[in-house]
Order: sequence, then C-alpha cells, then structure tokens
Amino acid sequence: MLSSFYRAVASAAKQQVRTISCSARVAGGHSFVHRDTPDNNPDTPFEFTPENLKRCETIIANYPKGHEAAACIPLLDLAQRQNNNWLPISAMHKVSEMLKMPRMRVYEVATFYTMFNRQPVGKYFVQICTTTPCMLGGVGSDVILDEIRENLGIDIGGTTEDKMFTLAEVECLGACVNAPMVQINDDYYEDLTVADMKRILNELKQGKKPKAGPQSGQNHRFASEPKTGLTALSEPPTGPGFGVRADL
Ligand code: FES
Repeated sequence: MLSSFYRAVASAAKQQVRTISCSARVAGGHSFVHRDTPDNNPDTPFEFTPENLKRCETIIANYPKGHEAAACIPLLDLAQRQNNNWLPISAMHKVSEMLKMPRMRVYEVATFYTMFNRQPVGKYFVQICTTTPCMLGGVGSDVILDEIRENLGIDIGGTTEDKMFTLAEVECLGACVNAPMVQINDDYYEDLTVADMKRILNELKQGKKPKAGPQSGQNHRFASEPKTGLTALSEPPTGPGFGVRADL
C-alpha cells in the first residue's frame, strides 16, 4: 500500500519536472556559445588604440589596488565601441590580460549582459522592445516591428546586405512610460507610430541623424511627463528658504 503511494508521488513529481533546455538558447538571434569563426577567434587582431589605452588607464585608476576587475564592464564597452559595436573573443582576452582576471570571468560578464554584441552587427543596431507595456502601449510594438521588418527587409537577428542595420528583439529597456520604443545604437526613440518608425529608418538610410527621444508630434513631451501637461511641480521652485520660520 505504502509502496504504491510512493510510486504515485514519484510519478507525479516526474511529470512536473521541466528541463532547463525548455528555455530559449538564443539571444538576439545568436547563440550564447562561442564558436571560432574566421572573423572571431583568439587570433583575431585586437589592440586598444593609444587614445583608448589612456582611457583604460584612467578607468582602472578609479578602483582601489587589487580591485581592478571592477573595470571589466567599462573596458569591454570601450573595446566594443572601438570595434564597430561588437566584441570579438580576442578583445575579451585583452581585457582579461589588462585586469589580470581569468578569461572565464570576462566571458561570464560578456555573455551575461546583452549590451555586448559577440557577433558583428550593422552600423545601426536596432533593438525593439516587445515586453508587455511596449506591446500594449500606443500602436503596439508588434506593428512597429512589422514596419521595421518590411522597411529593412530583415527579420529579428538579421543584418541587411549592406551591413547598415541589424535588428534585435529585446526585453524592457526602461522607457515603458513612452511605449512603444526602440533603441538604435545609443539613442532611444519613443512614443513611436508607424510613420515615425518609417521616417527614422529612412533618415538613417540617408545619412541623417533623426532627433532622439519622444516622437509625439507637435505636443511632444520632453521626457516622460504626462502628454497633457504637468500635474504636479508645475510652478517654479521657491528655493531653499521657503517655509522656514522667520524667528528661527
Ligand atoms: S516595456 Fe518597453 S521599455 Fe519597458
């Protein structure tokens, strides 16, 4: 009797086990696992420029002796910016050598943070947020995504043939109040409509620099304040002396 009870419990538990491999293994269309390629292998040349080397020294000097590893993220970021917005494994090795960190520790950082591109990307790296607020806000991120796909002729994870654009789908970028939004290189474009998205991509194709930030037409907002105007803190601040009793 007891053994059949245990068998039933074991069988129920077995059915509830989910394998870890159920979760997606790809990010932005690329594998998390590094595989050597002709363009990205330990022998791919990478050296910081003399100018960036000085920047590295300044960054490292911000941290106490023995804690140089704290400069790992800024140095990887600098390496990526120098290398057309992607990070070859040889650049990770350079950072590990400069910070005297085991290579594995640098790989851990570079693979954890999605802002590091471990494969070449186009000149304009378009990241569209499709998390719930962006999916529901304004026209919705799915409509914006369709416009990008159609305009550039690529799907998520793809790069245009002229290497101008790469498209990635990402989770919340912290601009939910101005949904839907995309990030293109370092700039956010928010409060998007299909027409805005089309204009922004076309301006980039023409070599122009579209104005970043909220794209909400004539009454566009400066940041994330209500579209109908301020509802609080709408008067100039009165200064530090306000409210202090004269007799004190
Ligand atoms: S949900 Fe898109 S920015 Fe937060």
